[in-house]
Amino acid sequence: MLNDILRKKSFNQNKNKKGTMDLLGTGELRGTGNLEAGLKRVLGAFDLTLLGVGAIIGTGIFVITGPAAAFKAGPAIVLSFLLAGIACAFAALCYAELAAMIPLSGSAYTYAYAAFGEIVAWVIGWDLILEYIVASSAVAIGWSGYFNNMLKGIGLAIPVALTGAPNLANGTFVNLPAILITLIVTAVLVAGIKESSNTAGFFVALKLTVLVLFLVVGSTGIKVSNWSPFLPFGWMGVLSGAAIIFFAFIGFDALSTVAEEVKNPQKNLPIGIIASLVICTLFYILVAIVLTGMMPYHQLGTEAALATALYATGHNWTAALLSVGAIAGITSVLLVMLMGQPRIFFAMARDGLFPKIFAGVHPKFQTPWLATIITGGCVSVLAGFTPISVVAELANIGTLFAFVLVSLGVVYLRMTMPNAPRPFKVPFSPVIPILSAACCFFLMCGLPHLTWIRFAIWTVLGLFIYFGYGIRHSRINQIKA
Ligand code: ALA
Repeated sequence: MLNDILRKKSFNQNKNKKGTMDLLGTGELRGTGNLEAGLKRVLGAFDLTLLGVGAIIGTGIFVITGPAAAFKAGPAIVLSFLLAGIACAFAALCYAELAAMIPLSGSAYTYAYAAFGEIVAWVIGWDLILEYIVASSAVAIGWSGYFNNMLKGIGLAIPVALTGAPNLANGTFVNLPAILITLIVTAVLVAGIKESSNTAGFFVALKLTVLVLFLVVGSTGIKVSNWSPFLPFGWMGVLSGAAIIFFAFIGFDALSTVAEEVKNPQKNLPIGIIASLVICTLFYILVAIVLTGMMPYHQLGTEAALATALYATGHNWTAALLSVGAIAGITSVLLVMLMGQPRIFFAMARDGLFPKIFAGVHPKFQTPWLATIITGGCVSVLAGFTPISVVAELANIGTLFAFVLVSLGVVYLRMTMPNAPRPFKVPFSPVIPILSAACCFFLMCGLPHLTWIRFAIWTVLGLFIYFGYGIRHSRINQIKA
């Protein structure tokens, strides 16, 4: 059964004698340069860990931690990080099992296809658009905040009207830097994945360095009294803090979207996913402890809390360096997030659920270039015209829902395909996958009602598209017919 799915879905195994590939198995797109090439296997475990850390540490820690501590959890934001980190660790194990078992592009979409069939896969794939496109927009907006801050610092501020989503009270009209950075990163991605992961490596090194600097310098300014009261908003505050700060963990699953570009994915994917998550969680917890020790929590509700805390404790140079590192760090997140979505489009288009144009592989760069450009276009519009809180919460609910289904998918596949080869197995299954689904659902419950309503509208819209288009173009349905 699993082999059938892999055979049907792994179209890029269909090499013809000339060494070209016919991803749809129909030959109809031959000669268009669209689907012949397939994706190159160029990424190893180290590349993946870099990509993972590149995808994870960004706007969440640099931008969202401050307001989450100030308005949701207080110094107990440390516990929120712990809670979100535990949920993600469980989910990461589930991702790792499915990624190694089904090493094809498409992440949770592909796993849901194998576990539950097409309609659930569609819902997940549609939902992942929330994760990648909407989260990328939040990331680009976070980038713009630090960038504007830095420009102000050196006396080159751009007009206020161009620094944020339309808002009469603030006098903002469009977030121009967010649009520009999205377009630049999109261009880099069209040029090729290996180049992109090298670029990500540079940015990752830079952001880890500035975070270490923050920890070392910041810890000299800790006042124990700032940790009291520790739970100003109670345990519910810890939960809603975790539901927001979960944004800081989004991204590790992006690794499974590049499965088809990984050398020896059975071994390297689990290593990459788990290593990057462990590194990031450690950093987050330490940063949260130091940050809330440096300043009273209620003063952390700024756009750049880490820099604010450094300035407040007299470390101006470190604050400036940190801002540069934050800009670099957030750029690397954008790189990986914007790389994930086209590969999900690619997998869905390959199955006929999206128009074939989304599965086009560039003949020279061998990247899903059209899907990348479409993704970049959508992200830049959202980033230019939407406030960060709206997009970040929506991204969280979409991602958490995908995590719930992936976790249940592990349990279901263990029951329905007990003998399928599993190069990596979640320990203590089904306990850990069930705990994973429960923790992720618990975090979803910490999000505002309005976010749930937006999520429901998005899901219904997706179902309309599936029944209007996907079901009639589905390759699996055509094979059955
Ligand atoms: N985890 C990513 C970030 O914090 C999305 O920017």
